Amino acid sequence: MTGAQDDGTVLRVEGLSVSYGAVQALRGASLIARRSEVIGIVGESGCGKSTLASALIGLPAPGARMRGQVEIGGRDIVAAPERARRAMRGAAVAMIFQDPMTSFNPVLTLGQQLTDFQHRSALPRRARRARAAAMLARVGLPDPELALDRHIHELSGGMRQRAAIAAALLMQPQLLVADEPTTALDVTMEAQIIHLLRELRHEHQGAIVVITHHLGVIGELCDRVYVMYAGEIVEEGTTDEIYHDPRHPYTQALIACDPAHIAGTVDRLPTIPDRVPDLDPPPPGCSFAPRCPVAMARCRTDAPPRVTVGPGHAAACHRVTP
Ligand SMILES: Nc1ncnc2c1ncn2[C@@H]1O[C@H](COP(=O)(O)OP(=O)(O)OP(=O)(O)O)[C@@H](O)[C@H]1O
Ligand SMILES: [Mg+2]
Repeated sequence: MTGAQDDGTVLRVEGLSVSYGAVQALRGASLIARRSEVIGIVGESGCGKSTLASALIGLPAPGARMRGQVEIGGRDIVAAPERARRAMRGAAVAMIFQDPMTSFNPVLTLGQQLTDFQHRSALPRRARRARAAAMLARVGLPDPELALDRHIHELSGGMRQRAAIAAALLMQPQLLVADEPTTALDVTMEAQIIHLLRELRHEHQGAIVVITHHLGVIGELCDRVYVMYAGEIVEEGTTDEIYHDPRHPYTQALIACDPAHIAGTVDRLPTIPDRVPDLDPPPPGCSFAPRCPVAMARCRTDAPPRVTVGPGHAAACHRVTP
């Protein structure tokens, strides 16, 4: 670990906004992640989670406009020129995607790629290959030596995601970002990957940001949570606070719809009525007001304040009192 600030802060995001033309997908997000901490980002589809992830790795979609700061180990990836951003990816930050194929080149063997990913290492190629095999064994690939000679499409979905996790870990980044790492997998495979990430979090020295629309994943993995709605962070707190003392009506609605919180069996899982608003432009006032069961007149006109309800626990809502 080099470059991390003294208080252990690995990631510091301040006033981050990303727009795609008129679509304001992310608006003024601020968050931090410390060494050895696992941060969860949760919210419905279209809330801007992947937009945030792409900004964290300094790789916005073509044409996207980024403003604000994303400091990793004290260096701002937003302000950095493309060359420096590329250097930071791998050394400072690595990403695990929903689709593990994204991380690999289909025409090269796993061994060639996992060896290349360590290009900053002073180790000779043979040693890097041995390190790659050891990492594949660590993430649970049977017969890692054989796997090194395979191409990514020769592996099953769960094995591909394990290989992608191994690839990210081989780079020893200060910050690891995982965007819906288990969404493409079946339930059994999802449980296995979550179990693996839980084990790895103790071995990984840096910070981990896990992005998901699935509260169960947050409960299993994360220390602290940022809840996103319509491109904004609407609540932040420890996993315990978010689960047991949610303050924002959106967080309360998400928890109420979580299958783990519903007693007995139901024919249909509840969902929050209506949908995430269009963001070109977002509605005035609080963007959750049109769906909020406790909205007042003021909520439709005035942006809500960020109210601190405890150390590290805050919600952006007119209804919340300190
Ligand atoms: N490349 C792009 N060009 C234009 N609009 C985009 C682009 N990527 C995302 N958007 C829009 O930005 C908003 C946020 O999208 P984003 O993919 O970040 O959400 P998400 O929370 O990751 O959703 P999901 O859970 O479905 O992955 C959406 O309105 C989406 O349509
Ligand atoms: Mg997404």
